[in-house]
Amino acid sequence: ERFRETYRPQYHFTPPTMWMNDPNGLIYHNGTYHLFYQHYPEDIVWGPMHWGHATSKDLVSWEHKPIALYPDELGLIFSGSAVMDTNNTSGLGTKDNPPMVAIFTYHLMEGEKAGRKDFQTQGIAYSLDEGETWKKYSGNPVIGNEGNIKDFRDPKVMWHDDTQKWVMSLVAGDHAKFYSSPNLKDWTLMSEFGKNIGAHGGVWECPDLFPLEVEGSDETKWVLIISINPGAPNGGSGTQYFIGDFDGTTFTTNQKEIKWLDYGTDNYAGVTFNGLPDTERTFIGWMSNWNYARDTPTEAWRSAMTLSRKLTLHKNKTNGFYLKNYPITSLDEYAYATVVHDTMKSGMSLSSKNYNEQRLDFKIPGKLDDFKLSFTNVNKESLKFGYDSSTKNYYLDRRKSGVVSFEQSFGDKVHTAPAILDSPTDVAYSIVMDASSIEIFIDGGSTVFTDQIFPTTPFTALTLTSENTTIVNLKVSKIKRIWK
Ligand code: FRU
Repeated sequence: ERFRETYRPQYHFTPPTMWMNDPNGLIYHNGTYHLFYQHYPEDIVWGPMHWGHATSKDLVSWEHKPIALYPDELGLIFSGSAVMDTNNTSGLGTKDNPPMVAIFTYHLMEGEKAGRKDFQTQGIAYSLDEGETWKKYSGNPVIGNEGNIKDFRDPKVMWHDDTQKWVMSLVAGDHAKFYSSPNLKDWTLMSEFGKNIGAHGGVWECPDLFPLEVEGSDETKWVLIISINPGAPNGGSGTQYFIGDFDGTTFTTNQKEIKWLDYGTDNYAGVTFNGLPDTERTFIGWMSNWNYARDTPTEAWRSAMTLSRKLTLHKNKTNGFYLKNYPITSLDEYAYATVVHDTMKSGMSLSSKNYNEQRLDFKIPGKLDDFKLSFTNVNKESLKFGYDSSTKNYYLDRRKSGVVSFEQSFGDKVHTAPAILDSPTDVAYSIVMDASSIEIFIDGGSTVFTDQIFPTTPFTALTLTSENTTIVNLKVSKIKRIWK
């Protein structure tokens, strides 16, 4: 059987072999989801970037496809997006067979080595056969770098219906730039956002701008997702977002505080699918962190994507606007052999053959109060998740979770998150573990932790410690593996 190596996730996307980073060109078209990704097919560390390719019918199982884009004389193929040019505005296809167009960053290694600052430009490529084979546009680059902007990358393009034009979000070091185009080839700079707002502990990367309706209302706001490296709340790479308005030209917001999509250290460079209705805003992130991405203890391949997650927008008095991200419902169909425990009291320990291939769903009734859940194994390794009322923080502690010493920051501190919740009572939890990852969704995804873990043997015991709380309706399910 394929892909059974130690630490290989069994229901998360991984490349067949070698290095992977950001998801690219996420697009749904003709009943198929396409995932392209930053890929170096010759080594398990970052190198000359290609776009790998995979397809899915349900966002859980994936089929590996041939590499879509190779580096060329204009540079390596960095991150970007894909659109269906349904009206053939680009002229790269025909009315009857419109092109799928990929918009990406060219990174010219020689230029960078020579000390130039204009080594990142934007290019496009097109496919006339549903993403199977690709041709680069002969007029590349479509956006040059006359401004000598050192970090100038990661175009995310969408069709803006109200103004009938393409809109591109691009990052330029410490801010985002928005461009428009009638045809995906000729681009005009419209506006900029972000120099004096948000987190700036590192360079801005992988922007994503899209509309989303506020749940339970008919108000629509615009969301701008920005990855940042370093400067995340628990170290290294992380994902912040802004909620505001976009009038076709400019993005504006009243937001004062910094908002994070995930408080774990392993959800980076995530973006959402084009081609889906706005009510199905679906996100995938890269489940790693530039602090240690090159050092994790795997050999055949390196790193995985997060679960596909649905994004929803909410508003309440305490939090203002906030995003939730939660596993898409098609994952539910992969659950089997579910065991239900009506109550789990403090001091109780539940054993299982392998918690690292399971999903746990439960509720803690009553007011949010201190609790600690410890996963442990026969090698005395432990992974702890809980809530601490003295700091009002949730925490995830992987310091003693197994192999941690490959890089200093991987295991040197407890990851914490403020309790961002709809309401601090009767909170629901979902914990998804897959070989070398844990994803914790609190309150339907109001507060989320995504972390990699490398236990030397699977976790087999789960213990609850708490003065005042009890877990109810605990469902423990195995999840079917996706590789045939
Ligand atoms: C984010 C990133 C992008 C860039 C790509 C290169 O992880 O640094 O900004 O396009 O990776 O592989």
